[in-house]
Amino acid sequence: MCGIIGYVGLRDAVPIIVQGLKKLEYRGYDSAGIAVWGGNGFDIVKQKGRLNVLEERLRDCTIKGNIGIGHTRWATHGEPSDTNSHPHVGSRSKIAIVHNGIIENYKQLKELLEHKGAVFASQTDSEVIAQLAEYYYNGDLLETVIHVSNALEGSYALGVMSLDHPDTLIAIKKDNPLIIGVSDHGNFIASDVPAVLQHTNKVYYLNDKEITVLQRNGVEFYNINREPLQKTAETISWSADSAEKGGWEHFMLKEIVEQPKVLRETVSSVVNPGNNREVIDKIDITKFNKIAAVACGSAYNAGVVGKYVIEKLCRIPVDVELASEFRYKDAIIDEKTLVILISQSGETADTIAAMREARSKGAVCLSIVNVTGSTIAKESDFCVYTAAGPEIAVATTKAFSAQLAVLYGLAIHFALQAGELSPAGAKGFLAELEALPEKTEHILGQIDLVQKHASECVGCKSIFFIGRNIDYAIALEGSLKLKEISYIHSEAYAGGELKHGTISLIEEDTLVVAIANCPRLHGKIMSNIEQVISRGAKVLLIGNVPQAVQDDKLSVIALPPSTELFSPSLSAIVLQLFAYYVAANKGLDIDKPRNLAKSVTVE
Ligand code: G6P
Repeated sequence: MCGIIGYVGLRDAVPIIVQGLKKLEYRGYDSAGIAVWGGNGFDIVKQKGRLNVLEERLRDCTIKGNIGIGHTRWATHGEPSDTNSHPHVGSRSKIAIVHNGIIENYKQLKELLEHKGAVFASQTDSEVIAQLAEYYYNGDLLETVIHVSNALEGSYALGVMSLDHPDTLIAIKKDNPLIIGVSDHGNFIASDVPAVLQHTNKVYYLNDKEITVLQRNGVEFYNINREPLQKTAETISWSADSAEKGGWEHFMLKEIVEQPKVLRETVSSVVNPGNNREVIDKIDITKFNKIAAVACGSAYNAGVVGKYVIEKLCRIPVDVELASEFRYKDAIIDEKTLVILISQSGETADTIAAMREARSKGAVCLSIVNVTGSTIAKESDFCVYTAAGPEIAVATTKAFSAQLAVLYGLAIHFALQAGELSPAGAKGFLAELEALPEKTEHILGQIDLVQKHASECVGCKSIFFIGRNIDYAIALEGSLKLKEISYIHSEAYAGGELKHGTISLIEEDTLVVAIANCPRLHGKIMSNIEQVISRGAKVLLIGNVPQAVQDDKLSVIALPPSTELFSPSLSAIVLQLFAYYVAANKGLDIDKPRNLAKSVTVE
């Protein structure tokens, strides 16, 4: 959840690290800190609060150096405070570290180190790493890092600097992401690619327990037994601009508006020849008797939509599971189960654990991932990439839409393979899929209308989302989007469940957002709408309802025509815009909602 960065090179490390941290702030924003080697020791500035607070402090002090590490924190052990901020140093201030992850055996290690005389300054689990490194240090920093790694239980991506080696930065990872960037002026470690894109598009992806020794002129890789490794750099196709706000008020709005392009690229990648297509063609659905879609957050909601689509088109049962539950439930899966893991980051701890559990039971794992080289992409049997580009806003939008596009592509492919769809039938669905970008553009043309409706909801205490069938699946995402960024209480219900309890929550002027794209269920959802209106609710209807009830309490945002299976992709755009403008009207920090982080790399 935290973000780490490090630089060693010819330039001043301070602005480079701060600029990199800006790109990693989505990973946590409880505090930020930086350490550079300034000639006489470590200069460390760290501060509770957002990165701009650290930047202000840095303006008042003149720290400088050609090697340094930085951190942006999502607090797990110890409250957000200056002392608990990273970087951490050992008692002798000889070794400084930044850490992303959780050290599970930190209590035992702390006790041991205290017994040996270490004096801890913070309540964090991470400080134990710096203290342990000083304890093991014998002049050989690489050996020290290996010792430390062998003693740690848990997950970590680490950047390590030592006073005795002011030209060397060492990095290692286990179960948390870390990339190594190489440029003509220096070399980098970072939790994610956007942090280095301004300097280089050449990166190495580290595997677990691989160690990198970085110096100004080069990088070397070792395994945990200190044997040298040969690794190949990859070239990132994302431009530096794609991770910039580029004049938009928020990344979230920029990312919503990018969706026609993202959909075009993602749809094309699953339909036309290329890497994704090759992967999809390798999967033979007839070998499986069920599918389990496993994910967290919005990616889980994408899985719920996928369930409706795949079951309808392919007639294969699909279980949708929260990764955090799946991993501990002793799931009934075997080699005849295709597990579809959905993850923007490819680094969500629960989804990784679920994948490992599934593989250990013999299931075949197919991942839908946005971040190249991420753990899930690498460890799954098959990976289909979404072409969303870097997504910075914590609340996902374009990556979610791209996940849906891949799921549609898979469903059509599987249905053909399973003989449930004729080539002519598949053609019709492919045409629907390929029409999504244009329809999305059309919806984006109605931004003002969505904004107007959203502006009327700023004072709402609760907002309910209802839908039936596949509209219920997308209602889940509408509700999650709204609550994440607007802090308005929200729930999503299947329309038919209303009378089983939820309706008692409806009061005068409660807003109910009803999604209605299933023609065969229009009558049913309309009667739900009438039920809530008659109990005082206001309703915002999203969809295509030819004969909506006429009522002062009912407003409509019409969607372009579409078959019901593809309508979630269209409803999603309106729901994202709606959530965005409700939060914008409340003046909230939309890209970094309180308590959340984009990449949840802890349990
Ligand atoms: C966090 C993000 C969500 C995301 C979820 C799963 O909660 O805020 O937007 O859906 O993690 O992340 P993943 O990277 O696995 O899609």
